[in-house]
Amino acid sequence: MKKAINILVSLVMVAGLVSCNNGENKKGSQGKGGLATNAAEKVYVAPGEHDDYYAFFSGGYSGNLTVYGLPSGRMFKEIPVFSQFPTSGYGYSEETKPMFNTSFGFVPWDDSHHPDISQTNGKLDGRWIFINGNNTPRIARIDLETFETEEIIELPNSAGNHSSSFITENTEYVVAGTRFSVPVPQRDMPIKDYKGNFKGALSFISVDQETGRMGIKFQLMMPGFNYDLSHPGRDKSHGWFFFTTYNTEEANTLMEVNSSQNDKDFIAAVNWKVIEEYVNNGGGTKVPAKYAHNVYDHATHSATSTMENEVLTVDPTKVPGAVFFLPTPKSPHGCDVDPTGEYIIGNGKLSADLTVHSFTKMIDAIENKKFDGEAYGIPILKFEDVLAGTVKQPGLGPLHTEFDGKGNAYTTFFISSEVVKWKLGTWEVVDRQPVFYSVGHGMIPGGNSREPFGKYFVAMNKITKDRYLPTGPELEHSAQLFDISGDKMELLLDFPTHGEPHYAAGIPAEILKKNSKQFYKLADNKNPYATLSEADARVERKGNEVHIYMTTIRSHFTPDNIEGIKVGDKVFFHITNHEQDFDVPHGFAMIGANNAELLIMPGQTKTLFWEPKQVGVWPFYCTDFCSALHQEMQGYVRVSPANSNMELSWSLGED
Ligand code: CUA
Repeated sequence: MKKAINILVSLVMVAGLVSCNNGENKKGSQGKGGLATNAAEKVYVAPGEHDDYYAFFSGGYSGNLTVYGLPSGRMFKEIPVFSQFPTSGYGYSEETKPMFNTSFGFVPWDDSHHPDISQTNGKLDGRWIFINGNNTPRIARIDLETFETEEIIELPNSAGNHSSSFITENTEYVVAGTRFSVPVPQRDMPIKDYKGNFKGALSFISVDQETGRMGIKFQLMMPGFNYDLSHPGRDKSHGWFFFTTYNTEEANTLMEVNSSQNDKDFIAAVNWKVIEEYVNNGGGTKVPAKYAHNVYDHATHSATSTMENEVLTVDPTKVPGAVFFLPTPKSPHGCDVDPTGEYIIGNGKLSADLTVHSFTKMIDAIENKKFDGEAYGIPILKFEDVLAGTVKQPGLGPLHTEFDGKGNAYTTFFISSEVVKWKLGTWEVVDRQPVFYSVGHGMIPGGNSREPFGKYFVAMNKITKDRYLPTGPELEHSAQLFDISGDKMELLLDFPTHGEPHYAAGIPAEILKKNSKQFYKLADNKNPYATLSEADARVERKGNEVHIYMTTIRSHFTPDNIEGIKVGDKVFFHITNHEQDFDVPHGFAMIGANNAELLIMPGQTKTLFWEPKQVGVWPFYCTDFCSALHQEMQGYVRVSPANSNMELSWSLGED
């Protein structure tokens, strides 16, 4: 009996030791209540201290990009990209409206999916971040000094711009692939004639290394599959780009059944250097195509839109050695390349195992012409010839894989709701952690580069349910932060994200924060409607157009009393913020304007359009609490009847 008690006591002690072991505590690390021992310390950023990383989360159906700090999970900013944003007036001011111009007209919304930060020599350089608009195909470039959208280029011949926006390791190209294949050129034809007649365009958009300006270098016109995701080769595979495909069946209806028939779909391997050379030597065919190219200028604080008329297309069968298909089970979603460039991971969402292709074996098979037939003239390699290995039954519903730069891969599993860590080369699973719930993408800062910063992994979960206080039927998505610096992943933090963060890109804070702009120099303001001194503030009439050249400084508008405006006039408030200090924007809002407010940064000029519809004396005011006398920062516009003879007049400080 005594012996039995002794055994029991020692068992309890062992159990106690196990449960105290940092990070090993299953119950604790699930975060259902008590966090594992020092998780709170690991995410605590003391008041006034800064986070170690910036993390840029795509906004999904918000159309924008949100900026967070890691490890705190604090949100710093929402950067408007594809959607009108009343918080800053983006897309409402006359200067920014051209950013939404497309071949379909003004499109003030999109579905933004995959941000990627510019690189030099395969390392994050922090110049720009790119993101795709999925719905009305577009790619945007955001400047990481101003954290503002600088450029949006539309993609013709594309639809559901999903396998985008990923960049090559010297930012030579930002690449965008069509999810939906469509008739090219678009035309009136029966949907059932899809097979063999639709095309999938993969766009290679060059990036000017000085200015960042984008231009479509060429569009590769691929067979009518669905192109889901993509990644560039890097290091040894630099010069190649890899795209997952599904619906190689080319079904056009009841896709959930009809596009899941084939045992294997493909990863398309594209040698863009070969195509670049072909194009530089006059190859390819220019075809008519209408697409908008919108550029925002930081000197004028204004965007201009240009409609382009043609695009260069390339038929892959005309360029030997350019494109090959790697059979990949089964409806692969993510297409991820490890930091060495050797392994290409196809996350077959309906497949039991995870397939890893070898770049070396692929090159060998191509050189030895070991092909297994072709699809629309594109050679198909043999599955076994390019296989590096498989991760056996790692989980259910693999979607995406990230890398820590230490030989480990982290794959997200949507159906089994977990993150699985496995070793590149041995393919053994070394850890798995549940996520809450149903993870989509994961992100490791620099995970898309040759040099990841393998300290944190962020799981972007699709389903939130009970993780936060309920807010009615609509819940924000939840992200979860893991510490991956040890052998086992440790859950540190839950935090809500905005919209649907399909993907994110992280970068050490020190790379960006030293370059972050604090204000615009008033002397450098080249906006044609800028008012650089209060003495120049004025009101001018041109027919029924009235231009108000207004200035702001704490705490008044110049002028603040305006008379002689009439019903039916088209009024433009051109407002220049004369502050020259960090974090002193002024706002401007006019009663009855069919627009949002403006938020004008120090040194900037922005323009609000207003159509006065009713006779009276109507106020405007500053919307941003800028000083102790913010509430006094206001003015009046007198609106007279349309047939009035009232002359224009304006004043400040006169009775
Ligand atoms: Cu200016 Cu409040």
